[in-house]
Amino acid sequence: MANIAVFASGRGTNLQAIIKAVKKGKIKANLALVVSDVKKAMALKRAKRAGIKQIFIDPAAYPTQGTFEQEILKHLEAEKIDLIVLAGFMRIVGKTLLDRFPDKILNIHPALLPSFKGVRGIQEAFEYGAKITGVTVHFVDAKMDHGPTILQGVVKIEDADTLESLEKKIHRLEHKLYPEAVRLVTEGRVKIDGRKVIRLL
Ligand code: GRF
Repeated sequence: MANIAVFASGRGTNLQAIIKAVKKGKIKANLALVVSDVKKAMALKRAKRAGIKQIFIDPAAYPTQGTFEQEILKHLEAEKIDLIVLAGFMRIVGKTLLDRFPDKILNIHPALLPSFKGVRGIQEAFEYGAKITGVTVHFVDAKMDHGPTILQGVVKIEDADTLESLEKKIHRLEHKLYPEAVRLVTEGRVKIDGRKVIRLL
């Protein structure tokens, strides 16, 4: 069974959805570690409540991204982590982690990539006046919100939607899509072929 580490900086609702899917046996993996770069992240509390090992690593304590990631790597190696799941981790993953976990890092983005990259994906789609937006789960590579797409789901933006109602719809979809993507990857049901992620039966 794969050992998973979830990286989160904030509320951790996606972490919670993954915890639930593991508990229900939908994802057959061991949630071994939750890593946060924010001491007070709600995600750490959720991990604690679920009995998952959690650590806060303070980026301000390290002179460079590389040394910060070396510290994270130590913990990942101690737990024999096979897969990293970014769930609201508000940092770019650097070379240290990418080299050690090639095609083994997932991310979720609250828009249909390549549209509306960056940290304000929901708001920017709304303000742009898009009629559809959605959620993307993808492998992580060196560029932000860029690696091969595993799953996407569509959310309609109706005239009656507010930013808040749209956020709710997006998060509801995220909580379905992310556990499903983690399941596919941990069961070895996807293969990367260039930009494409091919489903294996
Ligand atoms: C999600 O909207 C995710 O798409 C984005 O950050 C948010 C994290 O939310 N990358 P949560 O911490 O899982 O509630």
